[in-house]
Amino acid sequence: EKGNYRHFMQKEIFEQPAVVANTLSSYVRPYDGKVALPDNDLDLSAIDRVTIVACGTSFYAGMVAKYWIEQFARVPVDIDVASEFRYRDPVLEKGSLALFISQSGETADTLAALEHSRACGQIIAAVVNVPTSAMAREADLLLPTHAGPEIGVASTKAFTCQLAVLAAFAANLARAKGKLSEEEEREIVKHLQEAPEAINDALGHDDDIQAMAHLVAPARDVLYLGRGPDYPLALEGALKLKEISYIHAEGYAAGEMKHGPIALIDDAVPVIVLAPSGPLFEKTVSNMQEVRARGGKIIFISDAKGLAEAGDGCVATIEMPEAHPLIQPIVYAVPVQLLAYHVAVLKGTDVDQPRNLAKSVTVE
Ligand code: F6R
Repeated sequence: EKGNYRHFMQKEIFEQPAVVANTLSSYVRPYDGKVALPDNDLDLSAIDRVTIVACGTSFYAGMVAKYWIEQFARVPVDIDVASEFRYRDPVLEKGSLALFISQSGETADTLAALEHSRACGQIIAAVVNVPTSAMAREADLLLPTHAGPEIGVASTKAFTCQLAVLAAFAANLARAKGKLSEEEEREIVKHLQEAPEAINDALGHDDDIQAMAHLVAPARDVLYLGRGPDYPLALEGALKLKEISYIHAEGYAAGEMKHGPIALIDDAVPVIVLAPSGPLFEKTVSNMQEVRARGGKIIFISDAKGLAEAGDGCVATIEMPEAHPLIQPIVYAVPVQLLAYHVAVLKGTDVDQPRNLAKSVTVE
């Protein structure tokens, strides 16, 4: 079943161009430049607030979606991890949309949060990979990801497919709210269609990433930094590394470094910086210089332009394709997945079945 791959996780990482394309084909219409949702009778124009609830990697997809929904649709978004949301008595106005994200569709805390939201009069939308799951059955608006079965415990292809669906959902909401011109919608469709090829290009750096895994494997602690939509990617990179390689890792918003974590920096702590060129680039680079000035070893993930500007003095660099900002989070997922994978292989851990973890967390 693994074909030529050594682990399911590796196979699933490499399936991403195909499964993201497959997922997108249900949400974008290249022939007329429109985004589309599965058939439903909801009036999205009436939605004035979105609450996103999820756990783990799915939660990080939700964090990226918050940027998109607020940017495109100008609808405010709250986001919580499910285990907190359930017990904090959130203010939920009737008729708002609650959006749940889950690969398995069975995560106990997320499911309980869904039921609580329904009882509070929320419209329920769910981005789910397993079509027969409880969450898929319960949703008013089911937004399936078509990643296919994900066997590796560490989520990879489900995450990028969630991002693809969430970007399309944000654009649909924006159109319904009158915030998207036809031209803008056409652009979004065009850029989403570029994602599979860009993922493929990112996968082409597998050998380089495998080589630099040797820099990370001996570390006790690793930091990941990103800004804007790359901040959740930093969190995701750290989560992937800790769950399969058992190395302690933290993701931080790059601008938060100087508020504490910079105290940890010395030459034994690899710092992985995710910074595509674009409006936030200079800001992140200046945080990176602060790290470098304290002896931090930087692994810099950027595009050709970014690497030319700021790649000098890094212990390693990974070149990502030039990608439109909309799809950058989808593309930058790939190097953090591959890095975690190769570090885990070097450390000899059980990549597909890491200790203490289950694929579907059906207890709270
Ligand atoms: C991370 C991982 C977990 C899951 C989390 C939510 O690689 O696999 O953090 O993302 O348990 O699971 P789902 O998406 O099935 O609700």
